[in-house]
Amino acid sequence: MKGLILSGGEGTRLRPITHTNAKQLVPVANKPILFYCIESIKRAGITDIGIVVGSTKDEIKAAVGDGSNWGIDVTYIEQDAPRGLAHAVLISENFLKDEPFVMYLGDNLITGGITDFVKEFTQNGSNSQILLAKVSNPQQFGVAELSHGRVVKLEEKPKEPKSDLALVGVYMFDKNIFKAVKNIKPSWRNELEITDAIQYMIDKGFNVQSHIINGWWKDTGKLEDMLEANRMVLDTLTTEINGFVDSNSKVEFKVVISKGAEVINSIIRGPAIIGSNTKIINSFIGPFTSIEHDVIVEESEIEHSIVLEYSVINGIKGRIEDSLIGKNVEVSASPLKPKAYRFMLGDSSKVGIL
Ligand code: DAU
Repeated sequence: MKGLILSGGEGTRLRPITHTNAKQLVPVANKPILFYCIESIKRAGITDIGIVVGSTKDEIKAAVGDGSNWGIDVTYIEQDAPRGLAHAVLISENFLKDEPFVMYLGDNLITGGITDFVKEFTQNGSNSQILLAKVSNPQQFGVAELSHGRVVKLEEKPKEPKSDLALVGVYMFDKNIFKAVKNIKPSWRNELEITDAIQYMIDKGFNVQSHIINGWWKDTGKLEDMLEANRMVLDTLTTEINGFVDSNSKVEFKVVISKGAEVINSIIRGPAIIGSNTKIINSFIGPFTSIEHDVIVEESEIEHSIVLEYSVINGIKGRIEDSLIGKNVEVSASPLKPKAYRFMLGDSSKVGIL
């Protein structure tokens, strides 16, 4: 069995972070989402993995390389534009050949892993197995309609969903999917939809099995979803202090302090992770916060947030919450008069002011 990870596309809903970064590389608990996806495919025993890449290919290739860090073989498949998930399958035929495969959307996170689903697929002899999860906002997903436990209809982002069962971004197929992706037409959003391809399989009488998952799953396309994913993963941490914590500081609950990090006269209340060479000085880091490497937080309070590398947060009076702060960002109290807010914000930035 092979693996196919979709890591192309454009992260429009996470701008400005994704103006310069692939959305699949935004870290959750200081590890890119894409790495969780690689690890769960590897754990399911699959080591031959294709990664579909688009305009952010250089960044993805630099992060994943040839896969040897994970003991996997990676083949990169270039997609000229985000023409849809089924299009990504279509252009991967040379890599996938006749083998069954698991397709994993590189911005999805499933904390329970996929090993059992892959095993079930290889044992039940179906042509495709899809995963479904109950959601409160089905309009934002592919939605499945079941009859007597079997999928009868799939609809992509329906205005009036027929159920609350969303398609999770992990799909298993045998070679018959290629007949489907070659026969469907682009949708209203001009994409070759994987939902239409699966519907084609159902209509042509192929055996499509579905499995409703109970575990936690997230499509991390939006800020709130990223923060929730971060919360879920941080909650599974066990305390590990590899950096320096001075005697005036307090580290409470589940906290990871990475090598070379320094915590001076501060409180770190977990679950939280502090990246390597980051300095936390006279500050409070609250629950569900991930601070990447080489960051400085001084005289400030921050919680339920993600801060990316090389950023500086200094002298902020109010507590920073529910925030995603990009790389090399500076947020500081301005010493200059007249008293005023001073910004240099990138396109699509969002700032909340008291
Ligand atoms: O997250 C689950 C949902 O994923 C499903 O419920 C939907 O049925 C499915 O269509 C998909 O919806 P999204 O609109 O959220 O997909 P998105 O455009 O975010 O793309 C998902 C991943 O695939 C993302 O990592 C980017 C990558 N991708 C996307 C497209 C359109 C590609 O590699 N190539 C593409 O052409």
